[in-house]
Amino acid sequence: MKIGTTHPSSVRSPMTEVSQPVAFPQDRSCPYHPPTAYDPLRTDRPLSRVTLYDGRQAWIVTGHGLARTLLADPRLSTDRTRPGFPITNARFAAIRERRTALLGVDDPEHHTQRRLLVPSFTVKRAAALRPDIQRIVDERLDAMIAQGPPADLVSTFALPVPSMVICSLLGVPYADHEFFEEQSRRLLRGPEVADVLDARARMEGYLGDLIDRKRKEPPGSGVLDDLIHRRAGDGEIDRDELISLGVILLVAGHETTANMISLGTFTLLRHPDRLAELRADPALLPAAVEELMRMLSIADGLLRQAVEDIEVDGATIRAGEGVLFSTSVINRDESTYPEPDTLDFARSARHHIAFGFGIHQCLGQNLARAEMEIALHTLFQRLPGLRLAAPAEDIPFKPGDTIQGMLELPVTW
Ligand code: HEM
Repeated sequence: MKIGTTHPSSVRSPMTEVSQPVAFPQDRSCPYHPPTAYDPLRTDRPLSRVTLYDGRQAWIVTGHGLARTLLADPRLSTDRTRPGFPITNARFAAIRERRTALLGVDDPEHHTQRRLLVPSFTVKRAAALRPDIQRIVDERLDAMIAQGPPADLVSTFALPVPSMVICSLLGVPYADHEFFEEQSRRLLRGPEVADVLDARARMEGYLGDLIDRKRKEPPGSGVLDDLIHRRAGDGEIDRDELISLGVILLVAGHETTANMISLGTFTLLRHPDRLAELRADPALLPAAVEELMRMLSIADGLLRQAVEDIEVDGATIRAGEGVLFSTSVINRDESTYPEPDTLDFARSARHHIAFGFGIHQCLGQNLARAEMEIALHTLFQRLPGLRLAAPAEDIPFKPGDTIQGMLELPVTW
């Protein structure tokens, strides 16, 4: 293991920590920058301590090299049902006793689940979906243009596009979108524990009914149909596991990408020079999407627990201790990304960890990239005059304890 940026004095045990560890997570003050309250974490790489909402402390990884090393280390578990697993808010604590498919299971079980899904999420499969994604994007923009200006870009475009795409990929009827979008929102943001519990029960009930219906029908072309008809018959995957996989695919499949489209648009509108560059040369698009992923790091705070002691350059992460990864801080490690706070499409943002790293690295990343490229390109090509319809400071964005993005994005053109 190489920890390029480590200075021994920057790895302190809690015993020698002079000041109180930073509270994690915290709200951003600007939606495309890490909270300024994380500044001490940025000067204290690659490993620090943080205080969680319940007063417990955990390690937080903030150096890019160390993050990639530890995210690939099987001594860190993602099994949220383990006693002492670090949780970042009371809402998630309330649902941690139930196992989450994929993201909440370790190998070898994780490998078995992921193997079932990988063929549906390859680069090739995402490329084959591009014409469908383009059609969906065009239709949503037609509808938005017909109704506006102005418009709320979140509800008219950023959310429906990935929601329609994941529905068609999974074989979930889009007609039910209001229901599952609402439950996803409550699952991720509450606001109360009761909302999270109720939303989970409703999502599971909905997917259970859908799976039971699909079992009786001739197979459709969706990923769920494929899992039900090819796998369930072999006894490889039972109903509960299917439901759990359905929930994570449906929630992760639209909420995350929707946030990247809304926050990506906001960020580009706040960086007119970069936007002009992108408009003038659409070949920059893939690099621009990677750089936006790095800069925005919308899934900030990946959760792990050590199952064995791990020696890290003079510090020992003890078995049972929580280990968090702040993607927003890691993706601004200046030893990997010079001038990390600058949006720069010419840099190589590859190797950012906004999609995670290791065995849990985002299953949907190829799909998400295709969606972001097509959505942003088409939006700015078709609406050359697109601009914010309210002062930037007044536009609400999501709190720090959930996936980052805009709550609303009033635009005009
Ligand atoms: C830009 C949008 C997206 C972002 C930023 C994102 C981010 C992430 C991150 C950071 C992880 C790793 C979490 C961890 O290690 O703790 C992850 C995992 C995952 N993502 Fe995404 N994601 C996005 C889009 C999608 C889409 C479109 C899908 C489609 C189904 C998806 C499905 C998943 C699944 C199933 C996992 C768990 C993988 C595993 O544990 O093996 N994501 N995502």
